[in-house]
Amino acid sequence: VAVRREDYAAPAWWIDTVDLTFDLDPAKTRVLNRMRMRRNMDVPAQPLRLDGGELNLARVLVDGQGASFRMEGDQLVIDTLPDNFELELFTTCCPSKNTKLMGLFVSEDTFFTQCEAEGFRRITYFLDRPDVMASYQVTLRANKSLYPVLLSNGNLVDHGDLPEGRHFAKWVDPFKKPSYLFALVAGKLVAREQRIKARNGKEHLLQVYVRAGDLDKTEHAMNSLIHSVAWDEARFGLPLDLDRFMIVATSDFNAGAMENKGLNIFNTKYVLANQATATDADYSNIESVVGHEYFHNWSGDRVTCRDWFQLSLKEGLTVFRDQEFSQDLCADASARAVKRIEDVRVLRTAQFPEDAGPMAHPVRPDSYIEISNFYTVTIYEKGAEVVRMMQTLVGRKGFEKGITLYFERHDGDAVTCDDFAQAIADANPESELAALLPQFKRWYSQAGTPRVTARGRYDAAARTYTLDFSQSCPPTPGQAVKEPFVIPISLGLLAQDGRELPLHLQGDEDASTAQSHTMVLTQAHESITFNNIDSQPVPSILRGFSAPVVLDFDYTDGELLILLANDPDPFNRWEAGQRLAMRRALAAITGPAADAAGLDEAYINAMRGVLRDPKLDSAFKELVLTLPSETYISEQLDVVDPQRVHAVHEAMRAQLATALFSDWEWAYEQNQDTGAYSPDPLSSGRRALSGLALDNLCLAARASGDTVWPGKTLQRFKDAGNMTDRFNALYALVSSSHPLAQQALARFHALFKDEALVIDKWFSLQAGAPDRGGDVLPLVKQLMKHPDFSLKNPNRARSVIFSYCSANPGAFHRADAAGYVWWSDRVIELDPINPQVAARLARALDRWSKLAEPYRSAAREAIARVAARPDLSKDTQEVVSRALAG
Ligand code: ARG
Ligand code: ZN
Repeated sequence: VAVRREDYAAPAWWIDTVDLTFDLDPAKTRVLNRMRMRRNMDVPAQPLRLDGGELNLARVLVDGQGASFRMEGDQLVIDTLPDNFELELFTTCCPSKNTKLMGLFVSEDTFFTQCEAEGFRRITYFLDRPDVMASYQVTLRANKSLYPVLLSNGNLVDHGDLPEGRHFAKWVDPFKKPSYLFALVAGKLVAREQRIKARNGKEHLLQVYVRAGDLDKTEHAMNSLIHSVAWDEARFGLPLDLDRFMIVATSDFNAGAMENKGLNIFNTKYVLANQATATDADYSNIESVVGHEYFHNWSGDRVTCRDWFQLSLKEGLTVFRDQEFSQDLCADASARAVKRIEDVRVLRTAQFPEDAGPMAHPVRPDSYIEISNFYTVTIYEKGAEVVRMMQTLVGRKGFEKGITLYFERHDGDAVTCDDFAQAIADANPESELAALLPQFKRWYSQAGTPRVTARGRYDAAARTYTLDFSQSCPPTPGQAVKEPFVIPISLGLLAQDGRELPLHLQGDEDASTAQSHTMVLTQAHESITFNNIDSQPVPSILRGFSAPVVLDFDYTDGELLILLANDPDPFNRWEAGQRLAMRRALAAITGPAADAAGLDEAYINAMRGVLRDPKLDSAFKELVLTLPSETYISEQLDVVDPQRVHAVHEAMRAQLATALFSDWEWAYEQNQDTGAYSPDPLSSGRRALSGLALDNLCLAARASGDTVWPGKTLQRFKDAGNMTDRFNALYALVSSSHPLAQQALARFHALFKDEALVIDKWFSLQAGAPDRGGDVLPLVKQLMKHPDFSLKNPNRARSVIFSYCSANPGAFHRADAAGYVWWSDRVIELDPINPQVAARLARALDRWSKLAEPYRSAAREAIARVAARPDLSKDTQEVVSRALAG
């Protein structure tokens, strides 16, 4: 049954205090829950309905007396109650059998919890909804030698020994919180600690808890946390509000991490790093995720969501905050632009397809069957773009004022997306956001990616240049017709010689002559005219990707080459290169010969120019020289033949590798490491470009039969002083299917057999390798039989299954349908073990209806096969039924 946003009603009861006592045991954990509750006098009197899930209920006392209650499904219902009372519940649960990893579970002999969104009900009966906020005190009791560390939210107020080798710890959280922010951890862990002083002189203890062997991989996470604390205080005036802030890592986790108040729990993937085991990308992800969870302490914990339809209130805002954090840590504008390009690439390759597919939903959805399915790139990344547009409309300082007002108004409350937008607008009453607020909020209510079409008109006689804009948005499930959005378009004009032109806006004669202007679209059609233009200019539109839209402009190749060589906006400079490549890819795909890459001299020379440009950073070059992904190319087509897309993509890669051979050699030599390893943007950019060069050199060798570069690559693989260089070398051998790859893979496994996160990379690389005659599926089946494989560990399951089904289109989309059949078996197999992971995998065929035959029918059949299973989880049921409906 679907939950609908419009059905929201305040809770009939409040919980003021919660006193929890745990006797932790993997097979049978006892939970004593004492709550002070009171009737909400603002709503009509109703029975008390508490949520539960897979609990054994032993006792229910109201004010110390046995009370009559009944069960309705998973809910515990009490009909007759006084207005104020104490409720005591005693339940047990079985953490060791909790493979769903929601609620209380065991990972490598340590207890962890994950309560967002609805996991707390699997620990005790509760009003498990975010608008019920209570004060918690928690007593943990367990065997002392097996579970020496006992953690929960807030401050440790008491601890000591108990009879029979047991001990206890008592924690009190000074802040009220919703149940989804509850956490406990118990096990054998060690911590890196750091004391820091805040601006006001107050001391805080920061801790990063890991298993004993991993302490040497916690320095970067700790540094990221220290930077996060300082940044939130400096940029937004938001201080750390706790004496102690803890991060704990677990290797069994459905998501990336969780912002439990004062006790963040992380997937090891986003904590552990040293130069031998983690790549530059890992370092950068750790910085983002540590920041993200820390920033939730305000945007999420101090001010939370009224209901789960408001999820983007905290997630969109917090992604925006972590993106800004990472940009602000960059030393220069080029590194900031690289981060922006990377973020946009994620949005366009993952969120745009979601917004065009059967799971499309607004940033603030209207209904769901299983909320876990809505932790999506739309809620997170598109939500962050909506917040970014607000910042664009009110300015950076105005946005900071808005954030201040938001936290002043709503501190301690559970609020809505409307409350957020209102606060930003109210703090900036003269802004365009304030003037356009109701229309702006369509970004929250309407799904789908808007398409902006722009056309230029140059009038030589009048010396004017006019841009005519129109906007539209395709229908999405349940929303046939869309109203116009508020779309900020940052733009500038270049002369044919590449100079940037001063902008004289018509109708705004005395405005200063800026070089960049943000036009705010509000209508289906509108225009802007610039004066004093001496010749046909080249417009640079949607600079910095100022809105999450598809921009259609009929650029000539010549104009794109001008932008690629000259645009002062690095985002659009990169974008021009992507457009040139995309145009060639689409022509080759829809043209007569599928293996003709069709990269012409003009394109090759332009790429050479970027690669050799002494003024550009390596990181930026790497982005420009990387072709658009097969997924992104496929989104531009109405009908997708995945094998043809793959063949063209491979042919383009090979051609770029061969045509720029000596340039790649030069780039490889130019970007060698000097000195000690550091994951900063400049040196990681150099490693990224030398890695791309190596990949191209091995690809070129594949075509020419050259053995020198594969040999050098193997040597590089063996000698590398850090995981980035080592993995890039291994990747180059695997992606060119060189015979030396086998030797390198075996050596890699032997070197890192005890490093789970590295073994994940080993699996993932093989499952994601380019298909040569259908060889990847048999390999993937082999990998699942490997002694290191486990379906129950989400990271490991993803490293094989998702790497094949979601990240390897050329191998997955087989004309014999064997990839789809295998996919459906894996969804069916995973579903009873871990519905969240299964439902995520179920989305691999979201875009089935775009596929050409025979893929389309085969994919549909595979989805139908999953949907026909009895006893599917709500999670997977919702995904496959939407796929079949849409
Ligand atoms: N709130 C967490 C974060 O974004 C993620 C929680 C994931 N929960 C889920 N049911 N998928 O930081
Ligand atoms: Zn988050």
